[in-house]
Amino acid sequence: MLILGIETSCDETSASVVRDGVNILSNEIASSLDLHKKYGGIVPEIACRYHLECINYVIKEGLDAAKTEFNEIGLIAVTYGPGLTGALLIGISIAKALSYSLSIPLIGVNHLYAHIYSAMMNDIEIKFPCVGLVVSGGHTVLVSVLGYNNVKLLGQTRDDACGEAFDKAAKVLKLGFPGGPVIEKEAEKGNPHAIDFPRAYLEKGSFDFSFSGVKTALLYYVRDADLQLTTYNLQLHDVCASFQKAIFDVIVDKAISACIQEKLKQLLVGGGVSTNKVLQAMLKDRAKAEGIEVLFPKNALCTDNAAMVAGAGYRLYKEGVCSDYSLDAEPNLGLGYCSRDQQ
Ligand code: KG4
Ligand code: ZN
Repeated sequence: MLILGIETSCDETSASVVRDGVNILSNEIASSLDLHKKYGGIVPEIACRYHLECINYVIKEGLDAAKTEFNEIGLIAVTYGPGLTGALLIGISIAKALSYSLSIPLIGVNHLYAHIYSAMMNDIEIKFPCVGLVVSGGHTVLVSVLGYNNVKLLGQTRDDACGEAFDKAAKVLKLGFPGGPVIEKEAEKGNPHAIDFPRAYLEKGSFDFSFSGVKTALLYYVRDADLQLTTYNLQLHDVCASFQKAIFDVIVDKAISACIQEKLKQLLVGGGVSTNKVLQAMLKDRAKAEGIEVLFPKNALCTDNAAMVAGAGYRLYKEGVCSDYSLDAEPNLGLGYCSRDQQ
């Protein structure tokens, strides 16, 4: 079955054709990121206008690159949350129109679940249950993945997402937007043990995260050290390396502890921050020591894309899930049911 995936939750407009959930025939992505840079963050109106301008073109490119046509598509999968309301509505509206006019089923996909699914789009067998970790600009979530349509929430951030902490830190350091890639680059030349930034482990046994403390600590450090903010500055490299390490220490500890507590041997990691090579190396090291297999998406699938939406949509469809035309944007959609809700 050919699935057309559509993703418009934030600043990427993406369309992808995927065969049977794993075989990616196309994955076209147009991004408005450059238009937001001068504002230091995503501006919803700009993102929405950009989606409107290019969605039709991106879908056509997605079909052309896959050498296919509308009449060969068997399912439309679209992100319906979380994300920017207006941006989500653009993808949902065109998905509904296509589903109706082509008389094919429609399925709404949770963007966070799609990020976890992106780590399943390798040729590696997934052994449910396993642990899923989403580390992105808007979310930091740890779940137990019991099946393609069964996810239990273990923990999530109580304030900033880890990608958001990188973006805010980069703003303080005058390194531009988005912060993650540039902090990773600056950190390469720095000493991760130079500055002891705080690590918020929260209550014993908690899988929740908090990154607002480390972000504020960086702000005070820069102010008090009267740091010269030039990219040739050795101290700046140390700040970036130490900040990155403080964030990743907590993420790696909690993700591996979750695998140990749940007695699960596979860890799936997705979201924009999962492209970070230091995070990947730290997770691989710790996972190896505990006999856990850690899976990352291919690079192109780490940040927002429609292939993961098409793939996840196919799996949900096979589990009997289907959306109707009342499908609406859910900007604050969470991931998974909380075990406390089940009692
Ligand atoms: O998943 P994504 O594309 O969008 C959301 O769903 O939020 O993630 C974007 C986030 C941004 O905060 C960006 O700074 C971060 O991912 N990011 C990184 C790296 N590349 C992107 N963070 C750390 N290291 C990176 N190499
Ligand atoms: Zn995302």
